[in-house]
Amino acid sequence: VDHGSGATERGRAERLDADDVLAPLRDRFVLPTGSESDLIYLDGNSLGMLPRSSLARLRDLLEEEWGQQLVRSWPSWIGLPMQVGDRLGAALLGADPGQVVVADSTSVNLFKLGWAAVDARPSRTRIVTDAGNFPTDRYVLEGIAHARGLTLDLVEAQELDAVADAIDEQTALVSLSHVDYRSAAIADVAGLTAAAHDAGALVLWDLAHSAGALAVTLDAWNVDLAVGCTYKYLNAGPGAPAFLYVCSHLQAQLRQPIWGWFGQREQFAMGAGYDPIPGIERFQVGTPSIPGVMLVDEGVALLAEAGIDRVRAKSTALTSLLVQLADAWLAPLGFTVASPRDPAQRGSHVSIAHPDGYRICRALIDEGRVVPDFRAPDRIRCGLSPLTTRFVDVWDAMDRLRSLVQRGVHLSYGSDRAAVT
Ligand SMILES: Cc1ncc(COP(=O)(O)O)c(C=O)c1O
Repeated sequence: VDHGSGATERGRAERLDADDVLAPLRDRFVLPTGSESDLIYLDGNSLGMLPRSSLARLRDLLEEEWGQQLVRSWPSWIGLPMQVGDRLGAALLGADPGQVVVADSTSVNLFKLGWAAVDARPSRTRIVTDAGNFPTDRYVLEGIAHARGLTLDLVEAQELDAVADAIDEQTALVSLSHVDYRSAAIADVAGLTAAAHDAGALVLWDLAHSAGALAVTLDAWNVDLAVGCTYKYLNAGPGAPAFLYVCSHLQAQLRQPIWGWFGQREQFAMGAGYDPIPGIERFQVGTPSIPGVMLVDEGVALLAEAGIDRVRAKSTALTSLLVQLADAWLAPLGFTVASPRDPAQRGSHVSIAHPDGYRICRALIDEGRVVPDFRAPDRIRCGLSPLTTRFVDVWDAMDRLRSLVQRGVHLSYGSDRAAVT
């Protein structure tokens, strides 16, 4: 740590905030007030904060579009999942129009696209993923493999070489996360996609921890399929619908397994058999959640206004400050930084590990008034959301954390796990 530059002084964090071009956007969110005003929220990578514009948008939807117009609003609602998908694709995913749709949940979209992919490689027998991939990804892939009599190979590393070695001419699908949910390590999407394509396999990327936090360029990376959620960095709210991406040249040949009427050509002709639309619409299933899609639209609009490159620049500055403070203050207390040290290799959260991590996390939330989350076995995950997290929040959170551990506050907490960590 360079103490000479004042890395550990609060004044430095204050100066970074003063120079932050994105700082004004924080006031566009509903912030903790009253008895909550001392709260430091470091869990926007799990549930992002509420944009004020979303309140107005939903009020209008509820009072006017639904309340007054009733079913007559459906003609304007029905195309919204594709329109918002296009805006999301342009602002955050490097995707040309017609390749992204907002629909269902990330888990359901993983199933739809994973199934469609293995269906398109009928003679192949293997699905490859990372053993450390997010549980729902592993379970959904396990389910697809089970239903179709395929083998799921869990590779013990995310590195390009290890995964590339596991891909062969029997591999139908390679499915990985862009940013690792525990460590925040960034995968080499272009390299791994090329390795899969060299073997004739399709790729399915999970963008849950990268969309809205760093530039994703799906078209340029030649990605086949991707999914991601909108309640993290996109700030669309709890259970907001997810998105999916299918590159245009594959759309007509891929068939998802849930043959719902929202994928049907001339939906209201109510035809006898399933005849899917050739485009991205075929990856819809049933009636979309219109409030949810509108909340995604508001979240995307704020990120589009911020600009993903500025978001990423602030994100790396925030995580770098946290790592510096962790090195200076927390390492002597038994913590280790469990995220890549090179900011170019790191997403927008930092995991800090401690043998007593769970109890410390509980004490930090209850008494420190700092909300990160905990990921087994020993990681406290600090999510830094560039639109809402200030540099002084990082400083104050680390200061409260070190003081709490120095005083042994966590020692009075039990180790029984809560239902949600
Ligand atoms: C990488 C990843 N994939 C998927 C999900 C969640 O999927 P779903 O929205 O279907 O619960 C998460 C949630 O945190 C995640 O981190």
